[in-house]
Amino acid sequence: MSGSTDVFEIMSTTRSMRRLKPDPVPDELIRKILEAGVSAANGGNNQRWRFLVVKDKAIKKAVQVWYKKAFDEVVGPRYAASAPPPGVTADRYQRQHGAVEYLTEHFHEAPVWIVACIEDKAPPNRSSGASIYPAVQNMLLAIRALGLGSTLTTRHLLYEKEAEAALGLPEGVHSYAILPIGYPMGKFGPVGRGTLADIVYQDKWGQTYPGL
Ligand SMILES: Cc1cc2nc3c(=O)[nH]c(=O)nc-3n(C[C@H](O)[C@H](O)[C@H](O)COP(=O)(O)O)c2cc1C
Repeated sequence: MSGSTDVFEIMSTTRSMRRLKPDPVPDELIRKILEAGVSAANGGNNQRWRFLVVKDKAIKKAVQVWYKKAFDEVVGPRYAASAPPPGVTADRYQRQHGAVEYLTEHFHEAPVWIVACIEDKAPPNRSSGASIYPAVQNMLLAIRALGLGSTLTTRHLLYEKEAEAALGLPEGVHSYAILPIGYPMGKFGPVGRGTLADIVYQDKWGQTYPGL
């Protein structure tokens, strides 16, 4: 499975692809991804989203330093102490750890990043996030449909000020996600999630939804 146009197949195989080849991604494909992004819903259709395409190696490296620091200090220890989530075997979770560590070391080597931002004087909050993450998910689906790989990353926000300074974001612009994009080294496969019966209720919290 690489490129696909079946939306259900795409959704169920849009896994985090953390091992990426350094081969360049044509601008024509980046444009398609961005077009998919701005097809998303956004509050009031205000379209305060802004997208920074980063190819400059020095900029990516300057951000990776903070991304790695956040791993070393927070994310790595947290991963080491946590159990596999629903629908994920211990073995698969272990492989995910390895991939997370790999991306941490090689974040800046992805040939292109799309940094999803919002230009707004108000500080980031749940509403502003709701107006950018639909675009981010559209882009992830488009990336997958084109046979490219990526991962939704937000870890740089643990060092938000430093990372946004490294990205050169002006005042009033905040980043919400960095998508490192490239051709994947591995193969696409199904995502690992728990069962709907454990998380869907009808009418009353905790009451079984018999429609499953
Ligand atoms: C809000 C959010 C933030 C995330 N941040 C990171 C990140 O900084 N680094 C990373 O490697 N993965 C990140 N991920 C990816 C998740 O770890 C991943 O989606 C999850 O483990 C499920 O794996 P899958 O996408 O392969 O199905 C993030 C995902 C979300 C939704």
